[in-house]
Amino acid sequence: MTVKNICCIGAGYVGGPTAAVIAYKCPDIKVTICDINQKRIDAWMSDKLPIYEPGLEEVVFACRGKNLFFSTDVDKHIEEADLIFVSVNTPTKKQGLGAGMAADLAYVEAATRRIANVAKSSKIVVEKSTVPCRTAQSMRTILDANSTDNVKFDILSNPEFLAEGTAIPDLLKPDRVLIGSLQTESGKAAQQALVDVYSHWIPRENIITTNLWSSELSKLAANALLAQRISSINALSAVCEATGADVDEVAYAVGRDTRIGSKFLKASVGFGGSCFQKDILNLVYLSYSLNLPEVAEYWNQVYLMNEYQKKRFVKKIISTLFNTITHKKIAVLGFAFKKDTGDTRESAAITLIKDFMQENAHVAIYDPKVEHEQIYMDLAEPGVVDNRKQVQEKITICKDAYEAAKDADALIIVTEWDEFKSLDYERIYKDMQKPAFLFDGRLILDAPKLREIGFKVHVIGKNALEGRA
Ligand code: NAD
Ligand code: UGA
Repeated sequence: MTVKNICCIGAGYVGGPTAAVIAYKCPDIKVTICDINQKRIDAWMSDKLPIYEPGLEEVVFACRGKNLFFSTDVDKHIEEADLIFVSVNTPTKKQGLGAGMAADLAYVEAATRRIANVAKSSKIVVEKSTVPCRTAQSMRTILDANSTDNVKFDILSNPEFLAEGTAIPDLLKPDRVLIGSLQTESGKAAQQALVDVYSHWIPRENIITTNLWSSELSKLAANALLAQRISSINALSAVCEATGADVDEVAYAVGRDTRIGSKFLKASVGFGGSCFQKDILNLVYLSYSLNLPEVAEYWNQVYLMNEYQKKRFVKKIISTLFNTITHKKIAVLGFAFKKDTGDTRESAAITLIKDFMQENAHVAIYDPKVEHEQIYMDLAEPGVVDNRKQVQEKITICKDAYEAAKDADALIIVTEWDEFKSLDYERIYKDMQKPAFLFDGRLILDAPKLREIGFKVHVIGKNALEGRA
């Protein structure tokens, strides 16, 4: 079985870069990325791609119009393809059974039903979206109900491990690619066909093949373990602040143990992003559903610790500013959930700024990549009439960090953008109210130097404001 024509359903943060890299590395395969969102497809075909990722433009511009295409005609490209990636969103359910925890699989189901309805030849259907363990079973039931002697479906699980901001290097040189299949003859043949696609640029030893359920669960497990490391170091950051230990020093000393390793031990204002919270809650829900409450509660603590860290930071800011921020100007640097992306989904900045607005502070925001409209949308409460107007009265979106900091009582680093490390802090200090408070939620600034300038500095997991030995 040789794959010649791929359709990717879902032109988002995963579908777009993943399928574009396949096209880039496999000139012999035609790849079409489809979406129901016309605006998104138009943007993929324009000079300004719908998502910001370092290196993405080079990849897309190199093969767009040659073997990489974008379309809203999902049915046509399903029909043409031998292999279909389902890379649609799987957000946390907002209502109904499992609301606030379970994954909303409506988009996966809709895409699967489309495939079942329009396919006139056999297809390999690949679950790329992150889904609860055993979702492939539901997909199979839908597809099997529509299969005939001439139209057969094989289902693979091929979860994506890229991180935003480094998506292109992650895809070009992944630690591993994971492909799960049913252990039947045709399942294994389909698995081999996808192995052959990735083998165009990934060494065979980095392509792991497993059964379907191991593959599905490994994705949730990887995100849960990564998030758990951040919650663990963030829990320790509170202990550091209370004792005079320095969380960066602790992380370094602990991470030097090769059994532990140094990555994902950077204390922060809390993890954000579209997946960590969603996937942990997904695992928690799955565990409850499997009647494993102890397991569910164990993983839920990772999520709760993250909520605690954000609230702890807000409390620290308010108490340091003499227990009130009413009518004070708070400058927030960074709105994206991490550097090198314009994505704001579940960004800690949203929680923090909403809390500041509740306290009637005025918030000045600067982020180098996030669109202004996105900030308004994230801070307005959906469905609340006139809330947008209230938000606009309480925030100002600034063109740079200097404008945000002017006359501010406090400056807060929320995203670790590199440019925040090299700002002219002398100038910022002069322009701020005194005392000028600075809160580093990302541990990226040189606190002793800033204290010399005159700032009152608080860094997560480090010496308290007045400094300890
Ligand atoms: P996204 O919201 O950016 O993109 C999903 C796209 O699918 C949207 O453009 C939407 O319009 C489209 N879509 C939904 N239903 C459709 C349908 N029936 N037909 C055609 N298009 C349809 O989401 P994303 O961030 O790309 O995430 C997709 C999946 O990948 C999720 O399950 C997520 O958990 C997982 N994932 C995301 C990341 C990441 O970094 N964002 C990394 C690894 C895995
Ligand atoms: C994460 C995983 O790293 C990817 O492997 C996975 O594919 C992806 O989720 C997904 O399933 O969506 P992503 O959320 O894009 O990727 O970015 P990360 O680099 O993991 O950062 C997540 C959050 O944790 C960010 O807010 C980041 O600032 C924070 N973080 C990360 C820390 O606070 N400390 C750290 O040491 C690392």
